[in-house]
Amino acid sequence: MEQKREQFSGALGIIAATAGSAVGLGNIWRFPYVTGENGGGAFIIVYLIFVFGIGVPVMLSEMIIGRKAQANAIGSFKKLAPKSSWWIIGLIGVLASFIILAFYSTVAGWTLHYVYSATTQNLLGQDYGTYFINFKDSTAMPAFWHIVFMVLTAAIVIAGVQKGIEKYTKVLMPILFLFMIILAVRAVTLPGASEGVKFLFKPDFSKLDANAILAALGQAFFSLSVGMGTIITYSSYFKKKEKLGGIAVSVAGTDFFIAILAGLMIFPAVFAFGMAPDSGPGLVFMTIPSIFEQMPLGNFFAIIFFLLIVIAALTSSISLLEVVVAYFVEEFKMKRVWATATSAIAITVLGMFCTLSWSTFKAIKIDNIAGNESMFFFDMMDFLASNILLPLGGVLIVIFVGWKLGKARSLNELTNEGLHKSKLYSLVFFIVKYIAPIAIMFVFLKGVNVI
Ligand code: PHE
Repeated sequence: MEQKREQFSGALGIIAATAGSAVGLGNIWRFPYVTGENGGGAFIIVYLIFVFGIGVPVMLSEMIIGRKAQANAIGSFKKLAPKSSWWIIGLIGVLASFIILAFYSTVAGWTLHYVYSATTQNLLGQDYGTYFINFKDSTAMPAFWHIVFMVLTAAIVIAGVQKGIEKYTKVLMPILFLFMIILAVRAVTLPGASEGVKFLFKPDFSKLDANAILAALGQAFFSLSVGMGTIITYSSYFKKKEKLGGIAVSVAGTDFFIAILAGLMIFPAVFAFGMAPDSGPGLVFMTIPSIFEQMPLGNFFAIIFFLLIVIAALTSSISLLEVVVAYFVEEFKMKRVWATATSAIAITVLGMFCTLSWSTFKAIKIDNIAGNESMFFFDMMDFLASNILLPLGGVLIVIFVGWKLGKARSLNELTNEGLHKSKLYSLVFFIVKYIAPIAIMFVFLKGVNVI
């Protein structure tokens, strides 16, 4: 007999784990820097529309697929549409997980380094811009922390769903949340902070070109962990009685709220300390330390804060690795330990190219696309995954649910076999079938200059 599949223990565990996957470096590191590069307020409005108008429907589609099929990202399509090529959607997802985790662990490694340097009292009191760039451009330390982070991720994934993934997220997420509120309050009360608040909330639509709109879509997918099978994989561990609609909306709401909180923490500080909002991937690392410098016990809080970010990153990285591991375990009958070890090693190798993008591999770059600065290997992986693979995966997922699975079967899963009827579900299905595919395709093709 087949071994019983693991499951999350209940609704709270599910929300914690799924929100744990969603909330991570995407909110705290990526959201502020992408917002900064795309002009602030107007970008956020588009982002908000995409999170709820497209992200939530894609998330629900993934939940329908995963919970119905009770299998990994590729196996789910094979089960629901046997003898067809739909499983390729899952393959795109596994590939995207691989690539995202590669550069994700670079940034998580930076965060680990900040924990370390705050602990050894070397962080506060520097010129943070120079400090960060010197660190990022070096080799040994970033590579070391990158590996440490991947080892931690693999260790948790080996422990499995309930014992590993669920246990950590439930406790640590609320603490991070509290910390961010404190920091945001400190940041908005800094002298000169109001410029930053204005930047966030006063929309300037002149900055909003097709590239920016695609960036907002990519950021919505990235931050919600949708478009690549993470939610398919996680919801295959959901119980049949869980209400999918409520889970999706609370996860998206939490995720959006935390991104805004991160913005409130970063931008007032950016303006108060005279930095440039479009400083790129280093933005958070160059600004947050200066907020701590303005606080009593700043060094102590810096340690805890960066530690919490590491943990938020871990609850996301384990969901990325789980996509790959669940696939190998279920489709190739590999042992969990071996599946995890081999995929983690392969990802670490690819990730090394990301981590050493600005040093050993700095020759690999694309210059000046669309007036932007050079794109290094790191940026290429991020762009490929977030702005190409996730929208592509997302559009195929909604097409699969809307057109292949069909209304009856989809709504049956979404309403727990008709138990939770609501008119809203028909609207969700309409969006999934018509609006989301058209909107995603349009934003994607415009963003990459095809139309
Ligand atoms: N959503 C995570 C974050 O915001 C990153 C992630 C992307 C995780 C895709 C899983 C899948 O940090």
